[in-house]
Amino acid sequence: MTLSFVLDPPLTDTLRERIVELWTEVTNAGGAVGFVAPVTAGEVRPVAEAAFAGVEAGIDRLLVGLDGDRLVALLFVADNRFGLKAHWRVLKRVMVAPGGQGRGYGAALMREAAAVGRKMGLTGLQVTLRDGHGLDAFYRGLGYTQVGRIPGALRVAPGDDRDEVFMWLDLR
Ligand SMILES: CC(C)(COP(=O)(O)OP(=O)(O)OC[C@H]1O[C@@H](n2cnc3c(N)ncnc32)[C@H](O)[C@@H]1OP(=O)(O)O)[C@@H](O)C(=O)NCCC(=O)NCCS
Repeated sequence: MTLSFVLDPPLTDTLRERIVELWTEVTNAGGAVGFVAPVTAGEVRPVAEAAFAGVEAGIDRLLVGLDGDRLVALLFVADNRFGLKAHWRVLKRVMVAPGGQGRGYGAALMREAAAVGRKMGLTGLQVTLRDGHGLDAFYRGLGYTQVGRIPGALRVAPGDDRDEVFMWLDLR
């Protein structure tokens, strides 16, 4: 099964709710997308709404991966909101539905994001990840290289500080 991708789909109430649901499910399955499990949709919704606002303002982009009409993957292509960094973007909230993980969907989503970045004329894409989830291997496999690390930047629980790792894909 191959996913189909849509860039900047209309942010209907149904899609918004499905994204909040997916974001909640992914977090509660152990994903590192801005929260620590357990979370409720009520906690995720305000953060998701802020992300939707950036897309609706035409500043950020939303890339979704669909299996038929079912949302199974997404990421945000976030603008830096800083003139000197207008030529590259940060990919945020990279996620695949827990039931669909490990089947190549995440890699396909990231390849599509790189194609979008090239079409936008960007020089590169950055991702920021939480150490300890093996995510660096995922991104390395897609051509990203580590360009920075802040030791213990993320306190996921008392006594559990994780490094924040910055990875970069050169599109030039
Ligand atoms: C990270 C994520 C997007 C990867 O998507 P996926 O569909 O599961 O990954 P794929 O099946 O496309 O895997 C591609 C390759 O990366 C590897 N990989 C994927 N996730 C990995 C992980 N957490 N640790 C180590 N390797 C990983 C796979 O083994 C595969 O390797 P291969 O090409 O040698 O077979 C997905 O697992 C996810 O949504 N995780 C929870 C949310 C999250 O933490 N997002 C990261 C935000 S920075």
